[in-house]
Amino acid sequence: MSQSTLRAANGASLDAQRTAPIGVFDSGLGGLSVWRHLRAVMPHEDFIYMADTANVPYGDKTEAWICKRLNHIVNWFLAQGCKTVVLACNTATAAAGTYLRERFPDLFIVGLEPAIKPALQLTQNGTIAMLATARTVGSAKYARLLNACAQTKPDIKVLSIACVGLAEKIDAGQAESAATQALLATYTQMAQGADVVVLGCTHYPFVAQQIRGLMGKGVQIIDSGAPVARYTKDVLQARSGLNQQAKLGRNAWFASAIAHGDAQRWALFCGENVEILAFN
Ligand code: DGL
Repeated sequence: MSQSTLRAANGASLDAQRTAPIGVFDSGLGGLSVWRHLRAVMPHEDFIYMADTANVPYGDKTEAWICKRLNHIVNWFLAQGCKTVVLACNTATAAAGTYLRERFPDLFIVGLEPAIKPALQLTQNGTIAMLATARTVGSAKYARLLNACAQTKPDIKVLSIACVGLAEKIDAGQAESAATQALLATYTQMAQGADVVVLGCTHYPFVAQQIRGLMGKGVQIIDSGAPVARYTKDVLQARSGLNQQAKLGRNAWFASAIAHGDAQRWALFCGENVEILAFN
């Protein structure tokens, strides 16, 4: 978790807002891998999930574009009355996390970063592979994370692999296609030698089984979904911001582009029936 997130954690009480929903953002459906953990640890919360499907993938967008777009989207979450916003997208966090925390200092914003720090503790052979979008791999934030890790564990090698094209295939529901298999074969080949694989894009947990098949059983595959969900809950609890309602929370689903058949595809990703509403 970044320092700025921890600073936000020390902020004011959220008691007055505790019945408000939690906003969850991703460029597409990948963030549902994080939402599943959020939902599991906070079943009484209401969630508003927003996918910027008109613009997925973010991996090939500029940092300036992502900042401008996220400014618009976070304002929209605030207009929906959200008490916190989870950027369930490594790419958006890397590009716009710092900008958004400066722009919205009173909002508890949770970001994702590739789980390199836990991987340092897990590796036995000293080689870690980190799979993410080109935007995340090339970001200054990721470079800072690698530098910090190199200071604490200088002997550990991190193979940073930009998986161009992978997130959009998963988002389009083509995780099992021959083209996706070919991409995975290429990227896991580049990861050979690592005994820990970090999934640094929230879309990739949806192909974790395929990655395991290609890398072999001895490899540990980790992502940030579970720790981020626990962290979000801990902070809301510490700030009296957890919803105390007895019934299960509701979920609202929004997307910036909706096509025929999307509701069925979303249902496969999140495990429940969804009605997708238009974000504009
Ligand atoms: N799911 C996003 C991430 O975690 C990005 C996918 C994309 O839009 O390129 O990085």
